[in-house]
Amino acid sequence: MATAKSTKLGVIGAGGVGSATAYASMLRGVADEIVIYDIAAELAEAEGLDIAHGSMFASEAKVSGGGDIEILRDCDLVIVTAGARQKPGQPRLELVGANVKIFEAMLPQVMEVAPNAILMIVTNPCDVLAVVAQKITGLPTERCFASGTVLDSSRLRWLIANKAGVSIKNVHANVIGEHGDSEFPVWSAANIGMVPLDEWTSEDGERVFTDEVKDELATQAMRAAYKIIEGKGSTNYAIGISGARIAEAILKGQDAVLNVATQIRGKYGIEGEAAVSLPSVVNREGVVRVLDVPMSDEEIERLRKSAGEIQMTLESAGY
Ligand code: 2OP
Repeated sequence: MATAKSTKLGVIGAGGVGSATAYASMLRGVADEIVIYDIAAELAEAEGLDIAHGSMFASEAKVSGGGDIEILRDCDLVIVTAGARQKPGQPRLELVGANVKIFEAMLPQVMEVAPNAILMIVTNPCDVLAVVAQKITGLPTERCFASGTVLDSSRLRWLIANKAGVSIKNVHANVIGEHGDSEFPVWSAANIGMVPLDEWTSEDGERVFTDEVKDELATQAMRAAYKIIEGKGSTNYAIGISGARIAEAILKGQDAVLNVATQIRGKYGIEGEAAVSLPSVVNREGVVRVLDVPMSDEEIERLRKSAGEIQMTLESAGY
């Protein structure tokens, strides 16, 4: 009987985000082999070893790290986390110049050793860099996308669950658009266990998610990374497990609906290139379908504006 092809996940960048992504992927049993590549060879090797030493208690993925790009050979999925990261108070879009240069130098080498890989961009601004990476590599857009607002949607769901006093598993709310300052929740589609959020009441019948509460939660979700960066210098755990979740959908062919960012030219009146996050079907081929989400005119206008921010940043970077 033919054995299933083993799966190989590559993570580029052994910093906080990359190592958390690799660790979460090992814990979730995302792939048969997980490799971490970084030009800081000793760091990559050490992170690989430190993760591998825990594999007895989790999945038995083969984990390693190193500084030779050969380690990425024949990866099925490569998650790119390497690059400059936000300083306290710095918007993600401002990182584009430094990170485009890193991508231009690095990605051709990556495609040399892993020509069949799907690329997922986590490095910020991830939406902009997903378009840049697609142009550098020539990959079809379904195989070159960004982690987008998967993390932001998780943050918002956590905030809603805490406010409502319910399990996060029963909260359905999506943040779409840029993974950044112009992101926004699609409140019109948010619900808890089929109860529309606007109709959710407390035990004594009071409406919980008033307009001011929703605005506050949206701001907290959007500003979450700024707050964490103020406190510990960077984020890593939640972005790491978000990346692992997306990797699982790809490497296990799950057809999962996730808010990743792909180029959606022509949808919602968005002309030109811009990768924005929308609920999309993700499987072994990458991002195979972007769902048509029923939205209010105001929500569509906000999505167009968010795409515009990404397009302006792309132009500023020469793409
Ligand atoms: C975050 O929001 C790193 O952009 C990522 O945590």
